[in-house]
Amino acid sequence: MCGIFGIVSKEEKPLGPILTEAGKRLAYRGYDSVGAAVFTDNSIDLRKDIGKVEEVNEKLNFSEMKGNRGIIQLRWATFGAPAQVNAQPFMDCKQEIVGAENGNIVNSIQLQEILENEGHTIQSTNDGEICVHVVAKHMRAGKTMLESIQLAYKELKGDYALIFFNKVENKIYAIKKGSGLVVAVTENEAYCSSDIPSILPLTNEIISMQDGDIVVLEPGKAEFYRADTGEKVERKAKVHKETMESAQKGGYDHFMLKEIHEQSDRARDLIDLLNESKFVEPFVSALKSAREIYFVGCGTSYHACQLGSYYFNKIANKRAIPSLPQQFIEEFGNSLTSEDAVVFVSQSGETKDVLNALNYAKEKGCKILGMLNVLGSTLMNISDVYLPIACGYEISVPATKTFLNQAIMFLYMAFRQADKDTSELAELPGLIQKTIDETDESCKEIAEHIKGWKELYYLGYGITHPIAKEGALKLKEITYMHCEGIFSSEFKHGPLSAVEKDYPVAFITAPENVDIMISHINEVACRHGKVLLIAEDNEVLQKYATSFVKVPKTNQILFPLLATIPAQLISYYASKNLDLDPDFPRNLSKTLTVD
Ligand code: G6P
Repeated sequence: MCGIFGIVSKEEKPLGPILTEAGKRLAYRGYDSVGAAVFTDNSIDLRKDIGKVEEVNEKLNFSEMKGNRGIIQLRWATFGAPAQVNAQPFMDCKQEIVGAENGNIVNSIQLQEILENEGHTIQSTNDGEICVHVVAKHMRAGKTMLESIQLAYKELKGDYALIFFNKVENKIYAIKKGSGLVVAVTENEAYCSSDIPSILPLTNEIISMQDGDIVVLEPGKAEFYRADTGEKVERKAKVHKETMESAQKGGYDHFMLKEIHEQSDRARDLIDLLNESKFVEPFVSALKSAREIYFVGCGTSYHACQLGSYYFNKIANKRAIPSLPQQFIEEFGNSLTSEDAVVFVSQSGETKDVLNALNYAKEKGCKILGMLNVLGSTLMNISDVYLPIACGYEISVPATKTFLNQAIMFLYMAFRQADKDTSELAELPGLIQKTIDETDESCKEIAEHIKGWKELYYLGYGITHPIAKEGALKLKEITYMHCEGIFSSEFKHGPLSAVEKDYPVAFITAPENVDIMISHINEVACRHGKVLLIAEDNEVLQKYATSFVKVPKTNQILFPLLATIPAQLISYYASKNLDLDPDFPRNLSKTLTVD
């Protein structure tokens, strides 16, 4: 997730060290390149490169940068590889204004074409550069910077936060639409930033901007305007007493909970990206023309592959074989041909098991498709075509938001394989938020029910089987319980022997599978096991439930995505009940680069 910070000061002073420190405080958000710009000696001094803040500072000597206004940006690549040319901030063609972006401009390809036709030279493949040129275009036409940003607001589609300054005024301008942006004012300075923690050491009186606000910062002063009407508005500062670390967690106790709560926004980012990205078509057509399709991943990413396979079957009547990487080589290796397409799914893009299978498939001449979160990763570099899942940095070891976006990407691909309209996806972000809001309490209740138990079964039928496996994996990872996710009809063929009074079994029941699930639930209920239900509200199911997590009403296809959320929350609260740290479970690592 990108981070931006801007400062304007009364006196010219060494801004480099201030910007560098602010950059370090934004680093927890994850990034792959850094850039800083200050106004000095009547010109804009802009330095940027890929690497960590410390490395880039050492290489480009941010510390010596002086001026009275400056910006630092940490970029987390979504589109446009992590490279010096794509690092932010950017200047316009005449080097009169500089700006940095956090977010996603979904119509940047169209805007680039318009700008180039008007004579602008765009050097990068980063949409942040487009924002700077759009504002510059209006300034060249004689508008003030405030008016130019208002006009840009009408043209730039997507969710973003932008910070600019120009060569003439000792001011910083910023706009917020969808991405976070906060502001603070001290006697001789003013600041804006993507988040509160990066400002906290400077002052704890912080103003939160609202979507559609533009702020004009001068030393000791902040004025707010509505972008659509130009009307001046008041925004009040609030005193923040939290520590920097707790502020980085966004007020949540753990990164895992913060990342669960982010899922609606991240889903929206991904859907925007899929609707706009030029990389989507080659991905879709490679799958369409393949003789055989494989989905390969480890851990949580493997469960996304399994759900993807259900989606391809149910929506596109198409076979896609989900596989663990080693299994892929051992079970399917000899039959692979150059007509096959393999989607390698990895949040980190660095999992060694996945890369081993990838190299194997490459030697066989298969088409290599990458689905990844970290741009610049090995998976991205080796893939013939790749798509980012646009989640931003995931800090917590148990994957949450990355699973949901992998699953959404598979759903989108299934629709495209079937030449079906993908507009149904637009309702997902709202449904995800509703699920988080409405299931939290009952998830806490279920976590209480399983307290004291050292084992649990998660049962799913058909399309919810991968979610049962993912729910079980989450519990294993962060409670250290023994937990298995299995196909519900298999339960009677062995595991049922474990059931005794109060033995906990969780059932994830999709709307079209209620009848068959009831008979599987009965097997547990009649032996006095605890029936923990994740399903849409249903009178009959209610009768069996020891505890019932009611998922908002939707349909068979979207249900597994929503049901993932209570499975995540149950494991989170169960871990908390045990006083464990869900973010950093023992023995596990976020990225496994060993065989
Ligand atoms: C590790 C992590 C898991 C993750 C798996 C695959 O085992 O602990 O949480 O699901 O790797 O990671 P990837 O980055 O390839 O998706």
